[in-house]
Amino acid sequence: MSKPHRIVLGVTGSIAAYRAAELASTLTKEGVEVDVVLTDEALRFITALTFQALTRREVYTRENDGMRDGQPAHISLADQADLVVVAPATAHLIAQLAHGLAPDLLTSLLLATPAPVIIAPAMNGKMWHHPATQDNVILLRRRNVEFIGPEAGLLACGYEGLGRLWPVPEIAREILARLKP
Ligand SMILES: Cc1cc2nc3c(=O)[nH]c(=O)nc-3n(C[C@H](O)[C@H](O)[C@H](O)COP(=O)(O)O)c2cc1C
Repeated sequence: MSKPHRIVLGVTGSIAAYRAAELASTLTKEGVEVDVVLTDEALRFITALTFQALTRREVYTRENDGMRDGQPAHISLADQADLVVVAPATAHLIAQLAHGLAPDLLTSLLLATPAPVIIAPAMNGKMWHHPATQDNVILLRRRNVEFIGPEAGLLACGYEGLGRLWPVPEIAREILARLKP
């Protein structure tokens, strides 16, 4: 039997963080080993326990971001991933990655990984359209970071516009398509 695929799923501090639970669950059911990494801000929206239960794996937060398998956790996770996905990705995460900032586990592993990176943004439409965000997206696309979404629609903040997280089943489908040999 071939080795299961392994992905890192980064979750950031967006109102859409709860939808990452469905993504983690779907991928786990498909046989993918999902290592979830939560930013401090993500923990304001969803608990690590949710992802521990859904993935049946250790979930990474500031509490356990030190060592893993005898290596710094950001290096171990970065090296072992076939794919790194951030869903939902905040404007803040996108800005950090574009500018090489690495103040926490998720941003550090994003800089350290040789694996392809997929970003699924979620934010208010004005934040998405802000020139700073758009410049950061252009910069990251130039570095082969792939973006899935956002889509247009009614946003959780009450605005209508472009900024909703891409539908989770479609994000899952895109991820699985990239993992197939
Ligand atoms: C209720 C609430 C909802 C938020 N939703 C979003 C969001 O969907 N997208 C976004 O970019 N920022 C959102 N923010 C702002 C982020 O939480 C903030 O920029 C945070 O520093 C992001 O941290 P992180 O990227 O390290 O997770 C929200 C803030 C609050 C209080």
